[in-house]
Amino acid sequence: MLNGKRILLIVAGGIAAFKSLELIRRLRERGASVRCVLTEAGAKFVTPLSLQALSEDRVYSDMFSLTDESEMGHIQLSRDADLLVVAPATANVLARMAAGLADDLAATVLLATDKPVLVAPAMNVRMWTHAATVANVETLKKRGINFVGPNDGAMACNEFGPGRMSEPEEIVAATAALLAPQEKPLAGKRAVVTSGPTREAIDPVRYISNHSSGKQGHAIASALASLGADVTLVSGPVTLADPPGLRTVHVDSAEQMLAACLSAGRIDVAVCAAAVADWKAARPATAKIKKKADAAPPALELVPNPDILATLSRPGPQRPALVVGFAAETENLVANAIEKRQRKGCDWIVANDVSPAAGTFGGESNTVHLISAAGVEDWPTLAKGDVALRLAGRIARHFGRPAKAEAAE
Ligand SMILES: Cc1cc2nc3c(=O)[nH]c(=O)nc-3n(C[C@H](O)[C@H](O)[C@H](O)COP(=O)(O)O)c2cc1C
Repeated sequence: MLNGKRILLIVAGGIAAFKSLELIRRLRERGASVRCVLTEAGAKFVTPLSLQALSEDRVYSDMFSLTDESEMGHIQLSRDADLLVVAPATANVLARMAAGLADDLAATVLLATDKPVLVAPAMNVRMWTHAATVANVETLKKRGINFVGPNDGAMACNEFGPGRMSEPEEIVAATAALLAPQEKPLAGKRAVVTSGPTREAIDPVRYISNHSSGKQGHAIASALASLGADVTLVSGPVTLADPPGLRTVHVDSAEQMLAACLSAGRIDVAVCAAAVADWKAARPATAKIKKKADAAPPALELVPNPDILATLSRPGPQRPALVVGFAAETENLVANAIEKRQRKGCDWIVANDVSPAAGTFGGESNTVHLISAAGVEDWPTLAKGDVALRLAGRIARHFGRPAKAEAAE
């Protein structure tokens, strides 16, 4: 998927630099070559030797190396790359980029380049939300710098919030999207993708939900957008950043998710990847249910939620030409999914095993079966980003406009 692409990876001085080692491995697995520039601070976190061993190339740190600069090394590094990736991108690197500084090799390469740049910020939550960083990010986005993440999550500094670097797989997917040939087989098609869990209130502080991370649904929304579709992502509560290049609508409950899908207007394709709660509390309390000494626990009466997939699949002029559902099962996966396709009236079902042993919820990879009227296709275990690209390719083919990679499959 990245065959022959040349990535210049700039590793700056943040705790997340250790994830860049994994990033090199994953980029190379996809066929890219990786050359590294390491800042002075970056070298406090990972050694040049580790980067060199994993990239199988020398590592560049010194702006004033006589051998490099006799060949104008800082210009050549950028010329030799298809894409510059800064991961981790520290607050300091972002500030230097925004200010146009060229005070070390990394900053000079970033100023001298005319290649696309992808940055994966990683920093303490207060550094990320500081007005200075917010302004720097805004400036860089306006100049066309591409961002992936950061995500919400626990940090090395014992805090929680936005600032955690995206996972290597997410950075690979963003890299692939930027380097994908600009063919847009889904241009003019409108898509709605649902993603993540829903939350069903029991009272103002408690809810029913599930372990869906949204990684698969978000990746599908991005993949459809990368093929030119006009995408609305309807996301339940997740810790992922809104993907670039599409519209994200945030919802909590199944009812809100359905309303958001229906208000998207006429759509050509719906992909229902969200793990929608089947039931909700019959009568959510308007005030917190108090725990009373010696009283029995309150009984929780459940009623069914609206069925989003079945509603979107209902025949009629508003029905999308293609409705794709997901079946998350822990047993009898394929048989249950075949039955679900018929019961819901959708066109395709992507069946995935969500038993804890499969590690699908929150994990980076997925083993799926694509079920349609034509039968069952077993796909190999793939990174969620690759499942998404393959599914998007299939969708393009359904509309009679195969993506090149899909045609070659
Ligand atoms: C233990 C430690 C962890 C750090 N982690 C981060 C970080 O995650 N993100 C960040 O922006 N800066 C972090 N810093 C501060 C940077 O290392 C510092 O701003 C440095 O000047 C960055 O230089 P560079 O951007 O040229 O690599 C950390 C510093 C230390 C000592």
